[in-house]
Amino acid sequence: MKEFNGKIVFIPGGSSGIGLSAAKLLASEGAHVMIFARNNKRLEEAAAVIGQSRENSTQRVGFLPLDVSDNAAVKKTMARAVSDFGAPDLLINCAGRAYPRYFANISYEQFDETMRINMYGIWNTCSALVPCMKEHGGVIVNTSSMVGFIGVFGYTDYSASKFAIVGFSETLKSELKRYDIRVQVLCPPDTDTPGFAEENKTKPEETKAISASAKLMSPDDVARVLLRNIRTGTFMIIPNLDGKFTYIIKRLFPRLAEFVMDMSIRKVQKGRGR
Ligand SMILES: NC(=O)c1ccc[n+]([C@@H]2O[C@H](COP(=O)([O-])OP(=O)(O)OC[C@H]3O[C@@H](n4cnc5c(N)ncnc54)[C@H](OP(=O)(O)O)[C@@H]3O)[C@@H](O)[C@H]2O)c1
Repeated sequence: MKEFNGKIVFIPGGSSGIGLSAAKLLASEGAHVMIFARNNKRLEEAAAVIGQSRENSTQRVGFLPLDVSDNAAVKKTMARAVSDFGAPDLLINCAGRAYPRYFANISYEQFDETMRINMYGIWNTCSALVPCMKEHGGVIVNTSSMVGFIGVFGYTDYSASKFAIVGFSETLKSELKRYDIRVQVLCPPDTDTPGFAEENKTKPEETKAISASAKLMSPDDVARVLLRNIRTGTFMIIPNLDGKFTYIIKRLFPRLAEFVMDMSIRKVQKGRGR
């Protein structure tokens, strides 16, 4: 996909953060944008902002309330969106959340919810939309994270969901090639969004220490890199240099990556006397 002008874009998780930035940027490049999330008021406000970013007034901007973890609701809502808006040329799965905590403090219910929103959510939207996308091809971007390729202290449930997204996407990519549907994965670093502010409230000190030296990205910058990579078709979209470096080190020298993280963790734990 080289041009977004006139393209139909669906963004679950498009009412905030990275999803909202991508929606605004795509609208500014001439796309018709449909966003989905649970909170109706935030959807309405986001749709108004996206509308203001449009390149021209003939572009459509729509929204529908949806919990992506609810398979039946996703089927119903996506069928309605396709009938009102048309089948998407581009699906960007951005809905997700993180509650970093020590493993011992993560309940089964939290783990279940994380998997249902982050992983099952993507499964649900892809199963609902791939059948109609097969008719004319398109692009699917699934949002994982840097912790989708390196396990980081404090993220046992979140990292499990984000690793799963990479495996799912790699496999789906292989299956959908023959239908001219490309699948890509976005792996953002720490990004300055409402979701990130929420995440910081429960983050263990060790987790903060690991990411202390990394620069926070803006969601608009992540969206710019995302669009550039949709144009080029790179499978793993890693928006920043730190992230790319970590990806290479983790693949080539996994023990070095572990050693560096362990140093930050030990420093915090020594300071606490354990
Ligand atoms: N920010 C970071 O540092 C960072 C780093 C790596 C990866 N990511 C990933 O990037 C994606 C976007 O994160 P963000 O920081 O931009 O988050 P955000 O500001 O909290 O936005 C999350 C969006 O997802 C929606 N959402 C959450 N749960 C949902 C559900 N069950 N059903 C439908 N929509 C749902 C939210 O709306 P409602 O709450 O109204 O439903 C909102 O529109 C997530 O997948 C996140 O894991 C973020």
